Amino acid sequence: MAASPKAGTLDVNKIRADFPILDVEVQPGVKLVYLDSGASSQKPVQVIEAMDRYYRHENSNIHRGVHTLAENATEAYEIARGKVAKFINAAKPREIVFTRNATEAVNLVAFSWGRANLKEGDLVVLTEMEHHANLVPWQMLAAEKGIRLEFIPVTEDGLLDMAALPDLLAQKPKLVGFTAMSNVLGTITPAAEIVRLAHEAGALALIDGAQSVPHMPTDVQALDVDFLVFSSHKMLGPTGLGVLYGKLALLEAMPPFLGGGDMIKRVELRSFTANEVPQKFEAGTPAIAEVIGLGAAVDYLNAVGMDAIAAHDHELTAYALERLEEVPGVRIFGPSADHKSSNASFTFEGAHPHDVAEILNRHGVATRAGHHCAMPLHNKFGIPSTTRASFYLYNTKQEIDQLVEALYKVKEIFG
Ligand code: ALA
Repeated sequence: MAASPKAGTLDVNKIRADFPILDVEVQPGVKLVYLDSGASSQKPVQVIEAMDRYYRHENSNIHRGVHTLAENATEAYEIARGKVAKFINAAKPREIVFTRNATEAVNLVAFSWGRANLKEGDLVVLTEMEHHANLVPWQMLAAEKGIRLEFIPVTEDGLLDMAALPDLLAQKPKLVGFTAMSNVLGTITPAAEIVRLAHEAGALALIDGAQSVPHMPTDVQALDVDFLVFSSHKMLGPTGLGVLYGKLALLEAMPPFLGGGDMIKRVELRSFTANEVPQKFEAGTPAIAEVIGLGAAVDYLNAVGMDAIAAHDHELTAYALERLEEVPGVRIFGPSADHKSSNASFTFEGAHPHDVAEILNRHGVATRAGHHCAMPLHNKFGIPSTTRASFYLYNTKQEIDQLVEALYKVKEIFG
């Protein structure tokens, strides 16, 4: 099998040298093959050093002090906001709200925009391939306010059934929320088309970009999307940080989500005046070091190039599908390579996905087994769980060969 460390136009060897963890031996003599970036990506030294530098030389709270450190920290935090805005082509840095994770960002929209704008009987359209983070907040709102939820179905081959959309939109939903890339199937959904159709029907559109933003270029203005959520830790940045993009007029009209420091202009004993966007949604001391780390991650991704990363991740995915299909007993979920990227979820006849992942781990291959926070999607396919290999800019075809070799070991054990 071809075992080139280079795929597409990326110099993967050079990239790998930036990720210290890729040299770790998970057992003596067994080097890590990290195929779990869908759960969390690894971090380059540039990100680690940016956070280290902040703690060594700039550590201070932001938007509060007038001393030099506080001013430097505030400036570094706001510069990073600007980098994130530019990365997704937001019109203004103020349209970027930092949250704890992508999950919190969806919760913010559901509980701030949703509570203020939805009433009993109103419809929110989601899809059957959503991750729990884009299901449960809406279910909670449904329980509280009596809103209705409907779902764009998933076809047998793991695509969104777009033929079902016109009927759903004819019911005049208030919001259509969907993933741009499935964390289980890898499916790249027709995001621009769904946003356009949602708008034509008078609905707002929310994109869960937790998987798509790390793996392909994102342009919120071209998409004309109203809300986009994504997480830092899946795009080379630190954990504990998510991003909500929202069109400024929408964010300005929305009530605050959490209450406390930084989100207020003025407080009386029985009332408060909310701060301007985005501080209105950033209550309490934010994840300052993490935001600075995300800024460094964005610099790194830009230097490599998101088009090149998208091409590389797609090439690895196509190669993985091709190689996995050779292994007897493997059943792959999701569409053909043309419609997906960055992961391959599969079952192995006669072996539980957790056992498969455990045996792969003995060979250094890190995958994720389980429902991947998408239980309804697994139910749809009549399976409780899958083993998922997921790929990113530092992975190689050779590592996919190692995955396949390790799967043959699984076969030896489970027949
Ligand atoms: N949603 C993350 C995953 O797919 C945690 O693994």
